Amino acid sequence: MGSPGRLAVLTSGGDAPGMNSAVWAIIKLAATRGIEVVGVERGYDGLIDGSFRDLTRALPDSGLAPVPGLDWLAATGGTFLGSSRCARFHSVEGRAAAGTALRRVGVDALIVIGGNGSLTGAHLLAGECEVPVIGIPASIDNDIGGTTDAIGVDTALNTIVEACDRLSDTARSHSRAFIVEVMGRNSGFLAMSAAVAVAADAVLLPEQPREEGEVVHELEMLLRRSFSAERGKPRVLILKAEGVPTPTSRLAESLLERVDDLRDVSIRTVTLGHLVRGGHPTFHDRMIAGRMALGAVNAVRDGLSDVMVSWHGGMGRRTPDPLVTIVPLAEMITETQRLRDGSSELTAMRLGLITQVRGVLAL
Ligand code: F6P
Repeated sequence: MGSPGRLAVLTSGGDAPGMNSAVWAIIKLAATRGIEVVGVERGYDGLIDGSFRDLTRALPDSGLAPVPGLDWLAATGGTFLGSSRCARFHSVEGRAAAGTALRRVGVDALIVIGGNGSLTGAHLLAGECEVPVIGIPASIDNDIGGTTDAIGVDTALNTIVEACDRLSDTARSHSRAFIVEVMGRNSGFLAMSAAVAVAADAVLLPEQPREEGEVVHELEMLLRRSFSAERGKPRVLILKAEGVPTPTSRLAESLLERVDDLRDVSIRTVTLGHLVRGGHPTFHDRMIAGRMALGAVNAVRDGLSDVMVSWHGGMGRRTPDPLVTIVPLAEMITETQRLRDGSSELTAMRLGLITQVRGVLAL
């Protein structure tokens, strides 16, 4: 490939705070290198449908600049390009249509910003069409192999901390227990990372599957100890990851039945859900978005394909940025599977840490 003249960028899957910061950085970095940028609307759905919009325009002096009206992007949550969970992209026909659309619009590369499902799609597309594809990890779940951080995780954690602090204020006023469910379909990363920061009393994770009866018994003991006259805790906070199969409401009901004899104990449940996906990206998310965007634009310049830009991943090809490496998307897929099935050292390390502090949390 000669010097790239035009690249496309899309955001896919669950939105994550900092996606816009990454797109903004890509626009400015590409424009200063004389590369035009087109945005794909609604992720892979828009790619298949050929929904493109120009994100750069030519200046009278022959340079390039962002199209007007985007200067607010770096500081905003969500994704202004739109996103989708695209069933059509799962088929070879869907990806062939996407490849045709990319060729029709005349781009030299595609940058995909999204989670492990979106990046797996990017890997398949890279193998099936001639257009080079580069991935940038973004998902609040932090369940993408080969990168320590994905864009959006830090903001989500800060939102969880703020929400739990607020819930603790009201919980303490009534000596209540709260079960707070946080997102993470296949990953307990948000719950386990927030647990210490919010001084939770217990944390339930999909990576540590347990019998429902055993969990209820342990939580009953926790409530009895915590609200005893000797310990006199003002509130109990139980963090539960979405991926734990027992519904939060059932857990609360079972628990309430067990502590029926305790006077004045009440339990409330809160599902933070999508609340945690929105909001202005933190400094950290803006910073890693900008640095990974630089890695991605350089990867386009270097003619790479089928790779992901990684943050502090401890693997892959080095770049001038000491914390940014380039990891083959195939390795990202393998590492993601290992994160999930527990065979990854990272999962073992995280679970080891949380196991060590369980007793401390409960005290
Ligand atoms: O983006 C990941 C995630 O936030 C998961 O934690 C959650 O299960 C899922 O997205 C929710 O997806 P949707 O917005 O499609 O309901």
